[in-house]
Formats: sequence, C-alpha cells, structure tokens
Amino acid sequence: MRDTPAKLAVVTGASTGIGLELARECAKHKFDLVVAANEPQIDSAADELRREGVKVETVKADLASLAGVDKLYEKLGGRPVDALLANAGRGLGKAFLDQDFADIRCVIDTNVTGTVYLVHKVGNEMRRHGQGRILIVGSIAGFMPGSYQAVYNGTKAFLDSFSYALREELKHTDITVTCLMPGPTETEFFRRAGMLDTKVGSEEKDDPAQVAKNGFAAMMAGEGGVVSGWQNKLQAAAAHVLPAAALARRHTKEAAPGTAKKKARK
Ligand SMILES: NC(=O)c1ccc[n+]([C@@H]2O[C@H](COP(=O)([O-])OP(=O)(O)OC[C@H]3O[C@@H](n4cnc5c(N)ncnc54)[C@H](OP(=O)(O)O)[C@@H]3O)[C@@H](O)[C@H]2O)c1
Repeated sequence: MRDTPAKLAVVTGASTGIGLELARECAKHKFDLVVAANEPQIDSAADELRREGVKVETVKADLASLAGVDKLYEKLGGRPVDALLANAGRGLGKAFLDQDFADIRCVIDTNVTGTVYLVHKVGNEMRRHGQGRILIVGSIAGFMPGSYQAVYNGTKAFLDSFSYALREELKHTDITVTCLMPGPTETEFFRRAGMLDTKVGSEEKDDPAQVAKNGFAAMMAGEGGVVSGWQNKLQAAAAHVLPAAALARRHTKEAAPGTAKKKARK
C-alpha cells in the first residue's frame, strides 16, 4: 500500500497566543507542521504539538527580515504547503511621537513586509502545485484609526484589505485566502506592546483557543473572513458606519496610557 504524505501546514508566530492555538488546531486535524517564531520558546511549543502524533519542525527566524522569511521558506525545501497560517505579528502602544522608531519599524516589517513576502513566496508555490489555503491574521483593529496604537492598526488595515484583494485575484483557482480578524484576545500581545496600563490591555479578553478554532474552521471552509466573537462583530459593524474621527476618539479611551481600570475584571 502506498503511503499518502500527510498534509503540511506552516504557522508563523506559533510559540504563544493565537498562533500556538492555530498550530494546535492544525495538529488536531492531522496536519504535519512547520512552525516558526523568533525566540527559543518555539521548541517547547513544538514538543507539545508533537503529542498530537504529527511531525513538527521548527524554524527560529526573525520574520521582520527578508532573510528570516527566506530561512523559513528554505526549510520547506519545495514541499507543497497545504495551509499557510500567517499569524506572526506584534503591537506597539503609546503615542506615536513617543514611540521608538526602531520599534515602529519592527511592527511594520513583521506585520506587513514579512507577511507579504512570505505569502508571495508560498502563494507562488501553491499556484505551481495548483492548490492551497492561506489564513492571514488581520484584526478588527484594521477597521478603526488606532490612537495610541496608530502604526499597529495601520498594519492591520493593510492586512485586512490585502487578504480580501488577494482572495479576489485567486477566486478562479483552488487557492483560498481567509482573513481572521480577532478582537482583544488574552495573549502575550499587550504585555509585549507595553500596553498593560491601558483599558484594553487590562480588561478581560477573548480566549485565544476559541479565536483560533473560528479562524481554522473559516480557513478550512474557504471563507473570506471571520470576525471572532459577537461583541467584536458588533464593533466591526459599528466601525463601518461611524466617522473615522469618532472611532479615533473611542480608541483613545481604550488604548491611551493610564486608562487601565484600578482592578482588572475577574
Ligand atoms: N491579542 C490580540 O488582542 C490580537 C487581536 C487581533 C489580532 N491579533 C494578532 O494575532 C497575531 C498573534 O498575536 P498574539 O495575540 O497571539 O500575540 P503573542 O502571544 O505575542 O504572539 C505573537 C507571536 O508572533 C511571533 N513573532 C512576533 N514577532 C516576530 C518576528 N519578528 N519574527 C518571528 N516571530 C515573531 C512571536 O514569537 P517570538 O516571541 O519568538 O517573537 C509569537 O509567537 C498577531 O498578528 C496579532 O496582531 C492579536
């Protein structure tokens, strides 16, 4: 009997948070995995994912750099990628003029340049093989001007838009493109973005496992996009009708330093 090779999924930013949960979904659905992140924690994540009985390879690379994306791509060695889950990303709080430009650049390079470069490389490979699924992790942040997180929201507006545009271009192929647009989710994101003293950073947030489950299901169903959670769906709907200035004002209340409640809600 001929062995059929397992399906292969590539998940970026799979060491923690939504990416780790997306990788878990892939493993549960018997995808072999190539998982990537910048820090050594990706190795312990991989050990855990292997318990699902799938093959897991790791790549430690800075996906903000083209060289880092090349390193990940080379690890694939020309194998067909059945699913690319482009999740790696980072935020950055505080007023724009108070941010360090190196940090600003890192957010843009990780969220936009690295993601687009990886999707371009793997997308072309999928076109050669005639099929594939792409999940891009955007955000509902992409629908609103993000005062005190201005660059981050801009990168997510880019990704949300890019994802739907690419999907349209590929609609006559067997490659699907899906955008996962989470709302505030309980991960390392807000600590890393220096936003623990903000309302959004300190209040109760969505479960990353549920967010990933919704994203994975949407990707497998070949849907265009999914906003995870009904409260976020409401926010997204409101963002489509409210004026940009009102959205920016509302974002200040969520993301400006010092807006954290005295005690985080249980
Ligand atoms: N949490 C939220 O509220 C929320 C809401 C909407 C959308 N999102 C999006 O969801 C995605 C995942 O974020 P998360 O919330 O799960 O945060 P997280 O727990 O901080 O996870 C981020 C992941 O991305 C990786 N990463 C970041 N920069 C990288 C780089 N330059 N090179 C390689 N890997 C890098 C991190 O690995 P290293 O530690 O190794 O760098 C980590 O695995 C992001 O795209 C984020 O924008 C999050």
